[in-house]
Amino acid sequence: QAKVEIALGAIPEGKNVIIKWRGKPVFIRHRTQGEIDEAREVKWESLRDPQTDEDRVQRPEWLVMLGVCTHLGCVPIGEAGDYGGWFCPCHGSHYDISGRIRRGPAPLNLEVPQYQFPEDEVLVIG
Ligand code: FES
Repeated sequence: QAKVEIALGAIPEGKNVIIKWRGKPVFIRHRTQGEIDEAREVKWESLRDPQTDEDRVQRPEWLVMLGVCTHLGCVPIGEAGDYGGWFCPCHGSHYDISGRIRRGPAPLNLEVPQYQFPEDEVLVIG
C-alpha cells in the first residue's frame, strides 16, 4: 500500500523495528539520547556522503530509513558494525547511528523515505 501507519508507543527507546513498505524494509529506530549525541558529534563534512544528522531526521529520537544497502541492495543488520549502527554483510558496509555510510563499498547513506508524524505517537510512512 502507499502509506503505512506505525504506533510509536510500542517501540521502546534503544530498539529497532523493521516494517515493510512498498515491498521494501523500512528501519525505525527509537534512538537514545546517547545515540543522538553520537550522531551529532560526527565530523560530517568529511563523510563520503556528507549529511548532518539534523538533515536526516525530523525528530531526533526517531530515525526512519530504507533498509536497503546503497551498494547492491542487501538488507543491513541492526546493532552491528563498527559505527554503532548497521552492517551490511554482503560486502561489508558499515553505517552509523544516523544511517550514514562510514566504511565499505556503499556509495551513499541509507535513504530516508517520505514520512510524517500526524500525531505525537503515530508515524506514517509514504
Ligand atoms: Fe551492502 Fe554490498 S550490498 S555492501
